[in-house]
Amino acid sequence: MTMKTPFTDGYDKAYLLETMMGPNAMRIMEEMVDMLPIKPGMRVLDLGCGTGISSILLAQKYDVTVFAADLWIPATENAQRFARLGLDEKIIPLQVDATKAIPFAHDYFDMIVSVDAYQYFGGNETMLAKLLPFVKTGGLIAVAVPGFTGDYTEGHLPEVVKPFWTPDWYFYSCSWWEALWKKEPGIEITQLREMDTCQQAWDDFMECEMAQEMMVPIMEAGAGEYFNIIQLVGRKV
Ligand SMILES: C[S@@+](CC[C@H](N)C(=O)[O-])C[C@H]1O[C@@H](n2cnc3c(N)ncnc32)[C@H](O)[C@@H]1O
Repeated sequence: MTMKTPFTDGYDKAYLLETMMGPNAMRIMEEMVDMLPIKPGMRVLDLGCGTGISSILLAQKYDVTVFAADLWIPATENAQRFARLGLDEKIIPLQVDATKAIPFAHDYFDMIVSVDAYQYFGGNETMLAKLLPFVKTGGLIAVAVPGFTGDYTEGHLPEVVKPFWTPDWYFYSCSWWEALWKKEPGIEITQLREMDTCQQAWDDFMECEMAQEMMVPIMEAGAGEYFNIIQLVGRKV
């Protein structure tokens, strides 16, 4: 039996350290997508792609066409990044706010994927219903979000988390996300799991300049013991 070599482990580390915006999105996307029926030529929306390291993985490893949509990172900046890697034919950058009008055709994507972003706009009862028309019937919505290993909420947080937590973390538990997605009749949950790569993905991010001020003290205090990364996949029915 041949072992799958993780693409991320061979990737240019300096490049990743410059572009990561949270727990290593390339690593997280790889673990998630390796469990999905992804095929060359598919059309995939990477929603909340940030600097697009997950989009780069999708194009380079899985040979799909990626629409790399993000709110905070301008499309021009991502276009230049993708062109430098010779991926401008495979990844289309766009600036999109998922809470506003979604600028795509209906029944267009084989998959919508999202890493470390969906929690910012999808923790409500309307987002799945809003996104589903853009996915082909039988297609998938697959998200990976940082969360808590248990149902910790304001007033019921672990002691080590309390000094750091703010509501804009948008960290929830597996059961919280499951209950939310079960309310949407247009999707059938096919996977709900804590991801194996959680520790490694956070450790990778701790090496980044961007993590030093805020995240490193949180992790050094031990709060990471209560963190997970939740993989939630549903099929459009
Ligand atoms: C922590 S960053 C992660 C970026 C990237 N997915 C990664 O993991 O490296 C969160 C991303 O969510 C995106 N985001 C937040 N709200 C959004 C919205 N309403 N529509 C689209 N993207 C959004 C931001 O633009 C930001 O790039």
